[in-house]
Amino acid sequence: MDRTLVIVKPDAVERGLIGVILARLEAKQLRIVASELRTINAATAARHYAEHEGKPFYPNLVAFITSGPSLLCVVEGPQDTWKVVRGLMGSTNPKDAAPGTIRGDLAIEMSKNLIHGSDSQEAAEREMAIFFPNLS
Ligand code: RTP
Ligand code: MG
Repeated sequence: MDRTLVIVKPDAVERGLIGVILARLEAKQLRIVASELRTINAATAARHYAEHEGKPFYPNLVAFITSGPSLLCVVEGPQDTWKVVRGLMGSTNPKDAAPGTIRGDLAIEMSKNLIHGSDSQEAAEREMAIFFPNLS
């Protein structure tokens, strides 16, 4: 089994879409093995999005992800589960995201694209250690 990190972002929590989003993951037969509703602080956001530091959108990205509660989740499934989650999410820009995906169906703005999923197994391990350091 593989695990990956999912963040139901502040826009999704604000819009009451936690249930809809988790239902899509569960319908795919992925399991939520850990979860916490928490407002991510600036230091943790900087660790999580370190790869984007210095990019033009970085200040807005950190401001957004720390703007309210997110639902942090570890999701488990078969090999390359991170890839399965990325497929369910759809493209980063909701305007390009295919209908049938979470972003394609439910989001419209790049800066408010509802969900984060790790983009490789290495990223998944790194990100799960940030948010769930005690999970075995
Ligand atoms: P995420 O990390 O949040 O799951 O999203 P992602 O992998 O699909 O996209 P990534 O490239 O990691 O970008 C992180 C977030 O930054 C915002 N972004 N804005 N050119 C832009 O204006 C731009 N590029 C990225 C998006 O909100 C994206 O989710
Ligand atoms: Mg990313």
